Parts: sequence; C-alpha cells; structure tokens
Amino acid sequence: MNVTEENPILIVLHNVVLYDYFLDLLEKEPYKIFIVQNTNDALQILKNNKLKLVICEHHVPGLDGIEFFKKIKAKYPDVIRLMLSGAKEFDILARVINECEVYNILSSTGSPEEFKNIISMAVNRYNYMERYNSKNMEISHKNVELETLNIHLEERFYEKTSLLLKAKKELEEVNINLKKNLAHLSAVSAERDALYNDLQRSYIETLYGLVNAIEAKDTYTSGHTERVDKLVSCLADKIFLSEHDKVTLKYAAVLHDIGKIGIDKAILRKPGKLSEEEFDIIKKHPLIGEKIIEPIHFLAETLPLIRGHHEKLDGTGYPDGLKNSEISEMCRIITVADVFEALTSDRPYRRAMDIKDAFDIFKKEKDKYDLNIVKILEEVINDGVYEPEGVK
Ligand SMILES: [Fe+2]
Repeated sequence: MNVTEENPILIVLHNVVLYDYFLDLLEKEPYKIFIVQNTNDALQILKNNKLKLVICEHHVPGLDGIEFFKKIKAKYPDVIRLMLSGAKEFDILARVINECEVYNILSSTGSPEEFKNIISMAVNRYNYMERYNSKNMEISHKNVELETLNIHLEERFYEKTSLLLKAKKELEEVNINLKKNLAHLSAVSAERDALYNDLQRSYIETLYGLVNAIEAKDTYTSGHTERVDKLVSCLADKIFLSEHDKVTLKYAAVLHDIGKIGIDKAILRKPGKLSEEEFDIIKKHPLIGEKIIEPIHFLAETLPLIRGHHEKLDGTGYPDGLKNSEISEMCRIITVADVFEALTSDRPYRRAMDIKDAFDIFKKEKDKYDLNIVKILEEVINDGVYEPEGVK
C-alpha cells in the first residue's frame, strides 16, 4: 500500500491478476491505495475514508459496477468514478456513462501510461473541484458577511438619519421659540423704552417747572436760563459736538442755576452790591444744584457741568477752584455762555454791556476763559444766529 495520505483512492477488483498489476503500476505515484475484491468491503472503506477516486470493474462480487457507481454517485457525489472495462462491453459502457456519470473509462486494452494518465487526471479533477468548491464556499461566506454588513449599514444609516431628522426638528422648535422670545423681548423692550421716555419727559417737565420757579424768585435774571440754553446750543452746533453731548449740554444749560432755588430770595433780588457773606451764600448754588439733580440717574452726566459752571481756568472760580484741564470742554462752553449772557443783560447793579465791551472783558480776563470758545462765540454773534438781550 502506498504511504501517501494526500490522495486516497479505492480500487475494486475481482481479478486477482490485476491486483499486482495496479499495485506495481501505481507504487511510485502519490496515492494512498485501498484495494478490495467486492463492493461490500468497498462501501465500508468509502464510509470510513474521504476518498478521491474509485476504480471498479463491472463484474465484482456484491453489486455490479453500474449499481455500485449509482450508489456512490448518490451518497458521495464528489468522489470521481472510473470504470475498468473490457473492450466489448459497449452496452455497459453506455449505461455507466449516462447513468453513473463516470469520469472516464479504463480500457483493459490500454497501456500502463494511459492508465496512469487517466488516474492522474481524475485525481487532479477531484483536487480542482475541491478547491473550486472551497472557494465557492468561501465566497458564499463572504457574501453572507457582506449582506449582514450591508443590513447593519442600512440600519445604522436609518438610525443616523432618524437622529439627524430628530435633531433638525428640535433645532427648528428651538428656532421658533427663539423667534417668539425675541419678538416678546422686542415688544417688552419697546414698552420699557416708551415708559422710560415718559419718565424722562415727566422729570424734565418737573425740572423746567423748578427752573421757572427760580426765575420767578430771581426776577432780575428772568429769561437768563432760556438764553443760556439757546447760546449753548449754537456753540455746540458750531463745535460739532456729538448728538449725545448736545443733549447733555442742553440739560446742563437749563439746569445750571437750579441750585438758586435754595438761596434766599432777598439775596437773589438785592439791588445793590452783595456783601462778602451774601456772595458766599450765592456761591453755594452749584453744589445745591448738584444735590438736587444727583438722584436723577439719566441726568448723571450733567452733574459736573452744574457743579463746575462757575469754575475759571486760572483756578479763581468756585466751588472747587479747578484749573485748566481739570475743567471739561463742555463745562467751559456753559461758563462762557453764562458769563456772556450775564454781561449782556441788565442787572440790578448795572446796565447790560454792549457786545464789544463784553468781549473786551473776556480778552482782559483771558486767563479765566477758553479763548477758543470765546472766538467761536464771536462767530455765532457775528453770524446773527444769537441776539444778546442788551442789543434790543
Ligand atoms: Fe450760576
């Protein structure tokens, strides 16, 4: 028996002479050879071994060759079948080919080389089919894996798509709520602005009422506030202040003397020159004005202007004796307008000065006032935009 394990083949022979012939013929070939004399033994070997090839005579004890091959075909379809046949057995050959689908015929008249070639081709055929089926199986497995993967991918795709759609819907809802909230906020904001404006208007009306009360108390300066307001507006336009600063300056111009509400009217109305004590009392009006306006939040920027409208650049002013850069431009504007209006208006102790004399005063006291603002004031007067009280 050949020792090669790779290619087990079975030979079923009744003819004892052929036994040795085949064993000699295939001795050096790469086959593991089983050789028996009847089909019962052959079927037993087939049951216990994974054979690649069965060679069988037609006339053997047990089943005849045709029935034997039919059985193998049904039970072990992969096993290659070869019929060993005599030259005259044409009927048998036809049946064995058609009914048993044998791979080939080993004719008893064939040469040893032909036998070896046919057997070799049959074993190769088995090996080829085995690899082919194995590859097919592998491909089938891969296909199943791919289909599974595909199903998972589809599931994940639908899952992700579903999540995206859900997120999109949530985002749309958030967006809608945001728009609603913004609309609500806008309405509330408009309402708040309207209320704030009403409140501001109400405050301003009250303050204007106070200013009128001062002028009623200090009859000699009647109309002073209104004229300073107008003069300051002209200067602010000429200097190109921002709209915000113009508004602040206007409030400060209207309210600059509001502190006089706290000064005794006997002093305010005194026709003659004030004593030093009386002047000290008068000098308190910027501080009193600041105290009155302090609680009103939206007028906060007017406070330094109300407090500082009697300050002078050389430090001789009151109440703080500020100098130069310590006095803001807006404050200097009010100071120049206030002094010019006072000089060009009648006072209990003197008549209104004419315009030239008023400007001579500024030139004479050039260290006290911002001469740039004085120059702009001259332009405003020359342009006829503002007409002083004393010119009438
Ligand atoms: Fe004043």
